[in-house]
Amino acid sequence: MSTIFVVANQKGGIGKSTTATNLAGILGRKAKTLLIDADPQCNSTSTYDAKIEDVATLYDVIIDSDKLPIAEAIQHTENGDIVASDPLLVKAEKMLDGDLEGFYRLKDALDELDGYEYIVIDTAPSLNIILYNCLIAADKVIIPVTADSYAMQGISQLYDTIMSVKKRQNRNLSIAGLLLVRYSGRSNLEKETRDNIEKTAKKMDTKLFKTVIRECIKTKEAQEAKKLLIDYAPKCNTCLDYIDFTAELLKKSRK
Ligand SMILES: Nc1ncnc2c1ncn2[C@@H]1O[C@H](COP(=O)(O)OP(=O)(O)OP(=O)(O)O)[C@@H](O)[C@H]1O
Ligand SMILES: [Mg+2]
Repeated sequence: MSTIFVVANQKGGIGKSTTATNLAGILGRKAKTLLIDADPQCNSTSTYDAKIEDVATLYDVIIDSDKLPIAEAIQHTENGDIVASDPLLVKAEKMLDGDLEGFYRLKDALDELDGYEYIVIDTAPSLNIILYNCLIAADKVIIPVTADSYAMQGISQLYDTIMSVKKRQNRNLSIAGLLLVRYSGRSNLEKETRDNIEKTAKKMDTKLFKTVIRECIKTKEAQEAKKLLIDYAPKCNTCLDYIDFTAELLKKSRK
């Protein structure tokens, strides 16, 4: 049985894809790991240097009426195994509308998949039917947040969505924690916001991960070079922090 992590926050540009690709890359060094890109922007797909054209993608698995087995949509790249996304996923809302099973497409697909210890899912900045598919299929949600004054905007909506899925569709779902990302540590505001995030985490009956992900320019460079940070700049702050975060996450998940 796989442990399925979903990285979610409906706020855009916060660090979801960076978190998902780094986590999957680091986990992939220890155990068989699959990254699933569930965002039509295809950023994780691009970082993994996976194809979108002329290959099967998540679209074929969860939207197409033929429902391709997910194993047939896995691409084995130099960075690791991935199910790529497709810009066509924006059509999901329309295509799955009114279909009661529409919320369970990803879960059904993953129930048929064997052999992966970890599955990491990157999601789009929206609370749409694809996110529901991810939450219904997942075990644990990782919520990246940044320490700016708008950081916690919309978090309660995400929390309500997670709790609603937990109550009705997936009792097994839990929030692994809030992860502070892109942290410069330079401003007092950041420190203040960090305290607020910690309080919000408590209210959500979860924790702020002890590990904080610091910023580093190498992160963007690695993404542009279509390489994992652990290969491109294994000693940079962001990479060292994601390694610590992965260890903290696994330790927590075992409890
Ligand atoms: N630790 C970091 N150091 C430096 N830059 C970072 C770091 N984490 C993320 N970034 C940069 O911030 C931007 C947004 O990150 P990312 O794409 O991971 O966010 P996202 O939440 O997935 O965005 P979207 O909501 O659009 O999917 C990217 O340009 C990325 O390179
Ligand atoms: Mg993204």
